[in-house]
Amino acid sequence: MSEKVKGKKIFDFSLLKRVFHYASPYKKRLYWSITLAVLLAIVSPIRPLLIQLTINNYVRNGLANTLIWITILQIGLLITETLFRFYFSFITAWLGQTVVKDLRVAVYHKILGLNLSQFDKTPIGTLTTRTINDIESINDIFSDGLIPIIADILSIISIVACMFYIDWRLTLACLAPFPILIVATYIFKESVNKSFIRVRNAIAALNAFVQEHITGVQIVQAFAAEDREFAKFKKINKEHRNANVNAIFAYSVFFPLVEIIIAISMGMLVWWEARQVLSLSAQQASELSGKIISFTLFLNLLFRPLRVIADKFNILQMGMVASDRVFKVLDNDDFIKTEGEYKPEKINGKLEFDNVSFAYIDHRYVLKNISFSARPGETIAIVGHTGSGKTSIISLLNRLYHIQHGEIRIDDVNIEDYKLEALRKNIGVVLQDVFLFSGSVMDNITLRNESIPKEKVVEAAKLIGMHEFIMKLPGGYDYNVMERGGTLSLGQRQLLSFIRALLYNPSILILDEATSSVDTESELMIQEAIDKLVAGRTSIVIAHRLSTIRKANQIIVLDKGEIKEIGTHEELLTKGGFYSKLHEMQFTKHTGLSKNVSI
Ligand SMILES: Nc1ncnc2c1ncn2[C@@H]1O[C@H](COP(=O)(O)OP(=O)(O)OP(=O)(O)O)[C@@H](O)[C@H]1O
Ligand SMILES: [Mg+2]
Repeated sequence: MSEKVKGKKIFDFSLLKRVFHYASPYKKRLYWSITLAVLLAIVSPIRPLLIQLTINNYVRNGLANTLIWITILQIGLLITETLFRFYFSFITAWLGQTVVKDLRVAVYHKILGLNLSQFDKTPIGTLTTRTINDIESINDIFSDGLIPIIADILSIISIVACMFYIDWRLTLACLAPFPILIVATYIFKESVNKSFIRVRNAIAALNAFVQEHITGVQIVQAFAAEDREFAKFKKINKEHRNANVNAIFAYSVFFPLVEIIIAISMGMLVWWEARQVLSLSAQQASELSGKIISFTLFLNLLFRPLRVIADKFNILQMGMVASDRVFKVLDNDDFIKTEGEYKPEKINGKLEFDNVSFAYIDHRYVLKNISFSARPGETIAIVGHTGSGKTSIISLLNRLYHIQHGEIRIDDVNIEDYKLEALRKNIGVVLQDVFLFSGSVMDNITLRNESIPKEKVVEAAKLIGMHEFIMKLPGGYDYNVMERGGTLSLGQRQLLSFIRALLYNPSILILDEATSSVDTESELMIQEAIDKLVAGRTSIVIAHRLSTIRKANQIIVLDKGEIKEIGTHEELLTKGGFYSKLHEMQFTKHTGLSKNVSI
């Protein structure tokens, strides 16, 4: 959201073409809206023309009968025009909303499929803005932007044409103040546009600030930083107000100016005709009155679109800026490659890392020449200082990131050759930071996979030892977990994620133990749960608990992205190397249960 909105050419045709491409499934309605724009342009000057005709030919001659018919015709025209207008507004808004709906699906689908590295680069707020606010602005291109502008311009052309047809000299006189209006409109448009861009940036900044600080309110309060944060908030809020006031100022100048120009035009009309009236016969003078009335109506019809056209251009412009950004998301080709067709029925769980090197950012390698292997059913513990690359190793296994060198094989097949879905279905993951979505406990365990029966969930929960706890929650499995699981303790959240992993009965399990300390009871539960989780499957555990590490078939000691030592607990201790030093530093102070260790 921190990204600034900048101006954009209004008529970037390739962009417009792309926006309208999204309306192509609804071609019929699109054509209808344009047809209606044309019809409205044709219909709108007819009524003033009829009035002129009536006054000149029938009122003067007192033809009451014809007058009634003309009145009926007028009413008919009015109803027709109103119906056209209604359908035009409805259809353009319908088109806008429908395109918005389709685009939002496309963008959200795209975002979900993006490579994780994209999320490392793009703030979440930005992606939220793309999916929600920006797409909403594209709606305006249809409902308040391009199509209404086309309708207005057509109306203006047809009215001016009629005026010229009736009396070109009078038209020129009436339109004499027009150049002023055009210049004023241009200045107004530019000024409002600048203010709008400021308003948008201010809103984005406000959104990001409020969102972030409400999420982190605990930190703000804990560090008594309320005053400082408040001052910052006030500053952004004031900018929002100032930008809006600027826009309001432009409006307050522009609209009275338009009124003045309309008044001058009317004045010109009266002045021009008054000059002539003296030299006219009675018949000509009467014709003149019809003309003056029709011109008054024409001028009114003309100024109505002129008043709002500047606004509409701004709306169009903002819509174009938004669509440009939305298309950038859609054009992002860094999505997860799903190539690879291998999809075995069952994975045995043989695992090999063969000289793997990996960098998140160009050549800054966080893993260097990593080689190890595990037989099916073995447990591998990875230990190492914070930042040594433990989480990175396991992120590679289910292809969240792509490696630059080496090969990772499961059951002797390169993981790149697996069908992504088959690979991920067979690898269960428990992450370091457990993420829960707002929703029921059940939904959080099954991730809304309705094919998982409740009994299976209960069975898994019992195995992990969480069933009783869940049943004690108000509503049991329907208990509503608040955003990010805020109403549950860290230990409880982790245990829930264990159920999630167990339920999918994966052949390979990845477990990134949370470093946070939990109470002794939960600690014991977690230990037992981990034993059950790893039993019978190949497991890679980033371990912080001595109990987990001890039981592992192999311990990999990682330091700055390189493997320092591999072996069992006893082997590594007798070796007296890196591991034994770490062990001495971290565990000897604790007895059995380690807390808060970041080995
Ligand atoms: N998404 C990312 N983009 C860029 N660099 C990253 C990313 N994630 C991690 N790193 C970097 O990679 C290195 C290894 O990080 P990793 O998360 O694998 O460490 P870790 O061993 O799991 O640490 P901890 O014990 O604190 O969880 C660190 O230097 C980190 O700064
Ligand atoms: Mg980690």
